[in-house]
Amino acid sequence: MDRIRIEGGRALCGSVYIQGSKNAALPVMAAAVLHRGVTVLKNCPRITDVCDMERILQRLGAKSSWEGHTLTLDCRNIEGTCVPMEYGSRMRSSVILMGSLLGRMGEVTVPYPGGCTIGRRPVDLHLKAFGQMGVHVEERQGMLYASGSKIRPAEYLFPFRSVGATENAILAAAAGDGETVLKNCAIEPEIVHLCRFMDKMGIQIKGKGTDCLIIKGGTELKDTVFDIPPDRIAAGTYLFAGAITRGQVILADAPEEELDSILQVYKKMGGQYYWNSGKLVTDSRHVQYPVSYVETASYPGFPTDMQSVLMSVLTTVKGDSVIREQIFEERFKIVSLLNRMGARILVDGRDALIHGTETLKGQHVFAEELRGGAALVLAGLAAKGVTVIDNPHFIRRGYENFCENLAALGGNITVDK
Ligand code: EPZ
Repeated sequence: MDRIRIEGGRALCGSVYIQGSKNAALPVMAAAVLHRGVTVLKNCPRITDVCDMERILQRLGAKSSWEGHTLTLDCRNIEGTCVPMEYGSRMRSSVILMGSLLGRMGEVTVPYPGGCTIGRRPVDLHLKAFGQMGVHVEERQGMLYASGSKIRPAEYLFPFRSVGATENAILAAAAGDGETVLKNCAIEPEIVHLCRFMDKMGIQIKGKGTDCLIIKGGTELKDTVFDIPPDRIAAGTYLFAGAITRGQVILADAPEEELDSILQVYKKMGGQYYWNSGKLVTDSRHVQYPVSYVETASYPGFPTDMQSVLMSVLTTVKGDSVIREQIFEERFKIVSLLNRMGARILVDGRDALIHGTETLKGQHVFAEELRGGAALVLAGLAAKGVTVIDNPHFIRRGYENFCENLAALGGNITVDK
């Protein structure tokens, strides 16, 4: 079992290139299934979630190849309708294939996407939206089976905003022979990127960037080349790696228009930054202030995927901070591990009360999920002494060359096989 080893205490300095977005690439790969042709995705991150999605598409009959960060998907011969259990249960986002396989094949079977360390992760909104489109869904021995020979154009109002449910509904509606209106959609940038990709493929979508989307299905689709945009959460993670080590980090190709809520919090902590032709130049030498209150929220609020890494930073600034997690009910799992490293965090329901101490100590800890694992790496970079982190595979699900990039910025971090 490999593990990450970090000797903390070094300020990170230098430039890091921000990878393509995991949460944009996955729905776009699912959308490629709608087209009986070839899709070329440039700037695709080489992370395990993308590789798992690629393997699922291969099992369905697609052919795929990589050239650097360019992934070519040939979906001409997809005939499969069943997402294999070994992938579906491991990668929740495979549920996103329901919409496009329904659209292409008229039926789909996926493993019921179980909950994970951050919460129950239900899919009731996905299924309700499909129901509105005339799709029949039932659960059979832990698998979800959906069928609908014809996707019926519909009007659906989501009871609350869900990224995955919005994406799945868009994908299914693309195959309907008419206009589907989706209201109270999630407006995360990844939804806009999906709509831009589908537009390029030939599916007309009105309302991009708003919470009301009108999808005109049944149009002729075409081979498409699409650039996966940079990953806003990876950008925020490297920003906060600079913050926790009080370094000076430059983020090359960061998504300038998607980082406002993260930069607002960074500034409150004392971070300084400016944009210089697509590069975010940051100076964390004066990061020292607690943040009295911050809550996670749907976009454009502070992203839940940044909550754990922010918590790590706040344990190192003197004073009291409060983080309220409003999206997932179980996203405070790393509190006990950070406390083992000398942090003083108390969980009270949805709130984490952080009493910043500045002195984290190296410990032997373990990752249990993607963003919590990244937060432990950041804590190790700041801690006195050596930190060892087991289960680094969780981190590789979403960050490409995470340890290598941090080492190139001056961190004393290695992966021991
Ligand atoms: C997407 O997950 C992202 N994953 C998550 O990133 C991200 O944290 C989340 O959106 C919120 O921004 C991908 O894009 C692959 P939701 P998703 O549906 O679609 C509840 C990461 O680390 N809900 O917006 O699963 C749900 O339980 C991952 O990159 C229902 O109740 O998130 C949660 O409390 C983690 N019923 C809330 O809504 C449903 O049918 C928001 O979930 C669907 C969701």
